[in-house]
Amino acid sequence: MNIAVIGTGYVGLVTGTCLAEIGHHVTCMDIDPEKIKTLQSGRSTIYEPGLEELLQNNIENNRLDFTTDYATGLANKGIVYIAVGTPENEDGSANLTFVEAVSKDIAKYAQNDLIVVTKSTVPVGTNHQIQNWIKENLQQDVNIKVASNPEFLREGSAVYDTFNGDRIVIGTDDENTANTLEEINRPFGVPVYRTDVNSAEMIKYASNAFLATKISFINEIANICEKTGANVADVAKGMGMDDRIGSKFLNAGIGFGGSCFPKDTQSLIHIAKEVDYDFEILKGVVEVNHQQKVKLVDQLIERFGSSLEQMKIAVLGLAFKPNTDDMREAASIDVINKLSSYNVNITAYDPIAIDQAKKVIKENVNYTTDIEEALTNADVALIITEWDQVKQLEFNTFKKLMKTPIIFDGRNCYDPKEAEKASVEYHSIGRPSVTKI
Ligand code: UDX
Repeated sequence: MNIAVIGTGYVGLVTGTCLAEIGHHVTCMDIDPEKIKTLQSGRSTIYEPGLEELLQNNIENNRLDFTTDYATGLANKGIVYIAVGTPENEDGSANLTFVEAVSKDIAKYAQNDLIVVTKSTVPVGTNHQIQNWIKENLQQDVNIKVASNPEFLREGSAVYDTFNGDRIVIGTDDENTANTLEEINRPFGVPVYRTDVNSAEMIKYASNAFLATKISFINEIANICEKTGANVADVAKGMGMDDRIGSKFLNAGIGFGGSCFPKDTQSLIHIAKEVDYDFEILKGVVEVNHQQKVKLVDQLIERFGSSLEQMKIAVLGLAFKPNTDDMREAASIDVINKLSSYNVNITAYDPIAIDQAKKVIKENVNYTTDIEEALTNADVALIITEWDQVKQLEFNTFKKLMKTPIIFDGRNCYDPKEAEKASVEYHSIGRPSVTKI
């Protein structure tokens, strides 16, 4: 199949490269010439394990190319994926400016019949709107079908997820279109679920909102565990043994971040509001997450009072989760922002996200990629991201390097019993603290 992908952000680049890997001829397009130049040279513009290798292989094998020229990119293609961003508007709604612009471009340059596949996360009803935008602007007498094909990839394991996903959702009312899309995706070996367009759009939002709900739910249970002396890790394990609940996404911590959950929860609240429905549970999920992100600072103040002045604080991890340099909605931003009002000295460690962090963190922070440097002479360590480098640290290293070995762990990386044995003061989320050292 000859396929075009518009938008070489996270979703578009992974989709295009993986479609090439299973044998299709793919042209990826973007309006950003710098991005296209980098990709043409075989370098990935995002950090994603395994992606660059696939990119290079498929460029070498002439299955993958990149262009800023939509006319060339769309020539002789039967399928075009829309994979541009749908950022959050101030009111929480999804901004469809890029989707609209791309739809009009497709209409302008389409020379033959096309299936337009929407990968971007868009509110229910948008695919019908895309169809209209294209129809109204078509220059040639060609047949355009629009289908929804939402994305469920996790950052940091996107390539793996493409080949090992739980389902591929295809939303269209046209059987031939569904057959073609199922055929294109067959080599991935992932089960296909066919439905109508509106339901496909809703599946994406409902899935992300449900996962976010699981996280906020277990975080509230964790907060109650702390006050009742229960251990949230054991509680989650016991809950997860019930197949109806499932054990995944029950890790208590300092909340969810990233490019999807925060944006998609807000967007679904907004979608509901538009049809006069007050999505109360989801509003609670968002609010709980907001508070949970700064929980370590609250714990710190509870422990030391608000006189944190001149304290040296090691912040371990900046990215919103490990194996990515993505800083979008990362808890570290809120933590550092709240800490800064207490006039403390912050040294932040992250193996790869520092460049991105500097773009969004405005406060005065010393950055280092050397974890031991961050810990040296620190009064307390706050664990924000569960990088392997953080999880592998031994309590003796904290003891050896820090002024006082006091750890506030936002990702439950260590066993409190081991902390006790090592005589380290250790506070985590929803588990008993170790204070007598
Ligand atoms: C998510 C969805 O998993 C994916 O299907 C969707 O397409 C995009 O959004 P991603 O944002 O890459 O993927 O990250 P994910 O691994 O799902 O984690 C999201 C956030 O939830 C992270 O901040 C993580 O730390 C947090 N999380 C996850 C928890 O706090 N507890 C958990 O048990 C799981």
